[in-house]
Amino acid sequence: MFKSPKEANDCEIEQICRLLNQKLGFNYTLQKKYLVQSRLNKRLVELNMDSYQAYLERLERDQSEFNMLVSLVTTNVTSFFREPYQFQVLQDELLPEILAENQKAGKLRCWSAGCSSGEEAYTLAIVIKESLGASLDLRILASDISIVKLKEGMAGIYPLERLEGIPRKLRQKYFMPLASKPGYFQVKPELRETVHFRKINLIDKLDVPEHIKFDLIFCRNVFIYLTRDSQRKVIQGFYDYLKPGGYLFLGHSESLNFTDPNWTFVKRSIYRKK
Ligand SMILES: C[S@@+](CC[C@H](N)C(=O)[O-])C[C@H]1O[C@@H](n2cnc3c(N)ncnc32)[C@H](O)[C@@H]1O
Repeated sequence: MFKSPKEANDCEIEQICRLLNQKLGFNYTLQKKYLVQSRLNKRLVELNMDSYQAYLERLERDQSEFNMLVSLVTTNVTSFFREPYQFQVLQDELLPEILAENQKAGKLRCWSAGCSSGEEAYTLAIVIKESLGASLDLRILASDISIVKLKEGMAGIYPLERLEGIPRKLRQKYFMPLASKPGYFQVKPELRETVHFRKINLIDKLDVPEHIKFDLIFCRNVFIYLTRDSQRKVIQGFYDYLKPGGYLFLGHSESLNFTDPNWTFVKRSIYRKK
């Protein structure tokens, strides 16, 4: 018989928020009480726990439960060709120049930071492949803190309705129907092999090898979670990992709204490393 958990008190919610804030740079406060509780109640039932105190004790000793907590209390909404204006700018205005510059080096390195289930990284791969043909060595790092979402991205399997943002021609070119799962499609291997999924907490010291420098970094709709201090830290990390002249794409409603001499404003939510 499953127990239904006792309602969390403010102190317990604050402890959960503090854990998230310390480890992930989040800006969670008691205002998130409803969200945290509504998402965790079911988890407590699954674990057959009757109190949030017991759950907090479990969190202290069980990293995998912390990973589960992160997956439950973050919003991972994403889609293919989300905020299409940015992909249009990339395709029409930025890629021709980036590709001309990279022709000699023969490679292009991109990072989708906070990639959720991979749609952003695969969209980037499609847009770049469509522009460059097969000639350039393209690699895209796709990272997130949610293991659950990273696994979805790695599998590259999506129901038909999630492919709606993709133009029909591109859908046929880059996705194949899954015989074993009617109504589902998988990213074709030639696209999948350009995207490499990794768990990276953006506020940790990044363990991306020093010699890797990116031409493009997409970090869209991630800053909503982060304190201003964490945002600055993350932006500094991006600066260090971009090539000079490399581009940073933020979410549509996000901006580098502090005066920072390191970046040139390109277009709404798009910046270039000086
Ligand atoms: C709303 S989704 C955005 C997905 C995609 N970038 C887009 O715009 O469609 C935000 C993602 O950021 C991730 N995230 C939040 N904080 C993070 C952190 N500290 N490090 C890495 N990823 C984080 C979440 O797990 C979530 O998948």
